[in-house]
Amino acid sequence: MLYIFVNGKILDSESPAIKVFDRGMVFGDGLYDVIKMQNGNFIFLEDHIERMKKSAKFFGIKFPYDLEEIFEIGQKLSAMNDLKEGELYLQLTRGVDIIRDHVFEDDYEPTFVEIVQPVRKMNPEIWQVGARVLLHPDLRHNFCEHKTTDLLPNVIAKKYVRSRGAYEALMFRTDEGGKYVTEGASSSYIFFDGEKIIAPKIENILPGITRIKVLWLAKEMDIEVEERRVYIDELLKMKEVILLSTLSRVLPIVKVENFEFKKGEIAKKLDVAFMDLCASHLSVK
Ligand code: PDD
Repeated sequence: MLYIFVNGKILDSESPAIKVFDRGMVFGDGLYDVIKMQNGNFIFLEDHIERMKKSAKFFGIKFPYDLEEIFEIGQKLSAMNDLKEGELYLQLTRGVDIIRDHVFEDDYEPTFVEIVQPVRKMNPEIWQVGARVLLHPDLRHNFCEHKTTDLLPNVIAKKYVRSRGAYEALMFRTDEGGKYVTEGASSSYIFFDGEKIIAPKIENILPGITRIKVLWLAKEMDIEVEERRVYIDELLKMKEVILLSTLSRVLPIVKVENFEFKKGEIAKKLDVAFMDLCASHLSVK
């Protein structure tokens, strides 16, 4: 059992807390975010909240709490659940209807959930040995710059790769130039071609907070960064394939399908710098 926060109340996670006609439940009409909790600290909380607020505005969903309140609720949950390491999960839905109807009004009270949970199961060796990923078509909609809760294509892609012994999907879409990389089911990718880092352009993919921080660190290290479409055909020429996310940090990819890559120096350097940045980050005074 975990203590969770739902619309102003702290509840037992087993208790019925969400209404059946919540639009998040029936339409996936909502947003979420995942923040790493490290030593009781919520890493880059400000950036995650900023991203969520921007998306809430875009979709016309009310954002009911401010940064300090979310921080304080997180601290309370961390203490009540006796957890200092883990994930802070936030979910915001448009609110509750009286019957199921696609059409929404403008005046719902949103549903806001805050959860502190132990970090999900990950093999701690993956950062040392590197991970394998598999190609998977990106079957999602056109709102992927927002962290929306309708994750069915993502969970299907994740199940596909995990049931084949791989860590993550490398999703692609197709244009007249061929297949190009979008992102993972729950992560971003960047590539190193021997001279510069190439990051898939933010065009219908999530502007990952880890991606933003890591590209900033790369520039600080005088590594050139280029943002553009990356085609699957080009991958064969890349020296390093690197996966990024709040939970996976900077993770070297050693195999895409059966094609092998070196666990390179760039991923290692960026992971060390990223961990330092996380360790020195203090969310909200
Ligand atoms: N996922 N792309 C997608 C589709 C994601 O779901 C995520 C994060 C990322 C990386 O974003 P960030 O660096 O802000 O964590 C990219 C989280 C961790 C999740 O769904 O659990």
